[in-house]
Amino acid sequence: MDLLIKNGTIVTASEMFEADVAVKDGKIAAIGRNLEMTARKVVDVSGKLVLPGAIDVHTHMAMPFGGTVSADSYLAGTRAAACGGVTTIFDYPVQHAGETILGLIASKKEVLEKEACVDYAFHCCITDLNHGEILKEMEAAVKEGITSFKCFMVYKKEGMMVDDGTLVRLLLRAKELGAMINVHAENPDLIDFNIENYLKEGKTSAWYHYLSRPEFVEAEADKRAVHWARHLNAPVYLVHMADKEGLKACIKAKAAGASVYIETCPQYLEFTCDVYKREDGRNFVCSPPMKGKESRDALWTALKAGLIDTVATDHCPFQSYEKDWGKDDFTKIPNGCAGVENLYPYMLDAANAGKLSFERVVEVCASNPAKIFGCGSKGSVTVGKDADLVIYDRNKDFTISANNMHSDCDHTIWEGKKLHGYPVQTYLRGTLIYDNGAFTGMPGQGRYLKRKARKASRGGGAQ
Ligand code: URP
Ligand code: ZN
Ligand code: ZN
Repeated sequence: MDLLIKNGTIVTASEMFEADVAVKDGKIAAIGRNLEMTARKVVDVSGKLVLPGAIDVHTHMAMPFGGTVSADSYLAGTRAAACGGVTTIFDYPVQHAGETILGLIASKKEVLEKEACVDYAFHCCITDLNHGEILKEMEAAVKEGITSFKCFMVYKKEGMMVDDGTLVRLLLRAKELGAMINVHAENPDLIDFNIENYLKEGKTSAWYHYLSRPEFVEAEADKRAVHWARHLNAPVYLVHMADKEGLKACIKAKAAGASVYIETCPQYLEFTCDVYKREDGRNFVCSPPMKGKESRDALWTALKAGLIDTVATDHCPFQSYEKDWGKDDFTKIPNGCAGVENLYPYMLDAANAGKLSFERVVEVCASNPAKIFGCGSKGSVTVGKDADLVIYDRNKDFTISANNMHSDCDHTIWEGKKLHGYPVQTYLRGTLIYDNGAFTGMPGQGRYLKRKARKASRGGGAQ
């Protein structure tokens, strides 16, 4: 064997049990009590948990956005991922008018082959159908393992929004190809109307970022997306769910049999819109914004009840000087926050505190992302899977600070957050890439993850 991890408590989505884990050629080769085998490296993890590496299915590395480029390169962002126990990221390259999907993905792969410290996959954002060419090209993209595409129902002025007609075409085409459409659901016209009025009234602080896109602005688009998914019988994945009313509509559609998947993020579980009243409120500006306490509570209730499918980060950091562009005008603040290194530690701290089970954290951060997005080799500590493993010390105290993060961003919205329990090691396909506070991996070590399509089906399928 290459690696033998002894005496840990293994956590899967359904159980916790004491066992050793043996690794050969990057795969989990055996799991059992007191495994009697020789290995090149033996690690005793008595008293610690052994978890599957988290899969952060929502990141924006090096993304041109908000008049700049998000602060983490693929190298810095995947280094931070490794140090937070994330062994696979799903990034969101954005296709712009006239661009082909395959050309865009090829250019991203070229960078990631050199820079990726963890494994990676892509959801491709489509902003323009190029007179229908993209609908054709989607088939080749699916064959390349890109089996999910994103549509922004917002960012109209930024030229990234797709209109309703385009969204319908994409939902149906994705269904036909066994792919899925992910949506960022907010109503752009309501937002623009609110922004115009607030600016006219001289209301320019970060608080008005929230007030221009409050609960009902997100809920309207959530409802529109699931209404169509249901009636077109097409799967849809709602990214970064943050409001109670939309959440309820999605849960109702799920119960009625629609293929609706819900993602939320740690920032919506932790913070409320009150952060926008803080002096540094601009640092928390992301879209959708954090909502009121009722929404935060509803997200926790749904998460605990098994009604939210995934927790991911929407990692999209900007430096302080860039956030400062919007000191006197919230519309000039680049939208997005860092989070990839905080996902697993935050969720596991909640489990450690008894807020939800460790199994449920594994389910939403690793097993469900793998299942929903067609990554058969990932997401569970099971024989035959990739040996993407995280060793977690339930007794280690950790206070998050920009100084102990591994991103290139100079600040974090999680500054000062105290966690009880913290990951102490991360293994990527059996190789140690994070060890007690230090990144020990190599850029270029991460591999492209070619994903499997879902079952394809034809026709409008109106219900
Ligand atoms: O504010 C955010 N979320 N920035 C990243 C782009 C997006 O909307 O996901
Ligand atoms: Zn978004
Ligand atoms: Zn995003």
